[in-house]
Amino acid sequence: MKQPKLVVANWKMYLNVHEASLLANRLGKKVQSHRDVEVVLAPNYLCLQPLSREIDHHKFKLAAQDGYYIDEGAYTGAVSFNQLRELVNYAIIGHSERRRYFNESLDEVRDKVAAAVRNGITPILCVGETKEERTQKETKQVLHDQVVTALSNLTAEDAESLVLAYEPVWAIGANEPAKPDTIAAAVDWIRFQVRELYGKTTESSIRVLYGGSDEPEYVSGIMATPGVDGLLVGRASLNYERFSDIITGVHLAVLSEDKTVKA
Ligand code: 13P
Repeated sequence: MKQPKLVVANWKMYLNVHEASLLANRLGKKVQSHRDVEVVLAPNYLCLQPLSREIDHHKFKLAAQDGYYIDEGAYTGAVSFNQLRELVNYAIIGHSERRRYFNESLDEVRDKVAAAVRNGITPILCVGETKEERTQKETKQVLHDQVVTALSNLTAEDAESLVLAYEPVWAIGANEPAKPDTIAAAVDWIRFQVRELYGKTTESSIRVLYGGSDEPEYVSGIMATPGVDGLLVGRASLNYERFSDIITGVHLAVLSEDKTVKA
């Protein structure tokens, strides 16, 4: 069976517990369940426990926005994947905001990916180049280094359920997403790295998302891009109507893809 598409709401450092519950509740009423679309909410750590009690788990899954790579110990302020394992199915790892503001290195991202997998949590590994790197024509090198290092401690079996997200840093918080051609080239290159490491079967079982200024009006164009299996949504996921429209858009994209295949 084909894997469902994946739509992830990255709420970043927005919303307190009360606001997050309110938004999840509104989404619960508005969003229709579709067998072909899996919807994941990634609130801050504080909201994970209350949301896990409140949400309809047939409709939504939960993700952490990060996690520490050591399972337990004297690491004040850290939350480990081992502590998150009962609450979340997924964890966003290596988001560009963590690489930039928290100085996360390639090796740290690699260790986090391995720790998530070890604890039964599916990593949503974020990769993407900055504007300067794109201008300097370093995009391929950057994506290669980010993907290859992050996966270097995983077996092919570990890698099969992975989710990768192409998030060009210059398209995050921007006026519009990257163009479909740009997304297609980057996603193709990311998939090529996975194929080189683990072979075709693993490459075809991973899901690759696009993130960066996703809004309802861009969904059909992005989802029609070869190799794209879903979206990692920032700002628009904080608004229940826009986020719900994005989910519907992804479902409609799957229906039209199926029609094209059958025709
Ligand atoms: P925006 O959708 O706000 O551009 O954020 C994208 C993002 O960083 C998702 O992880």
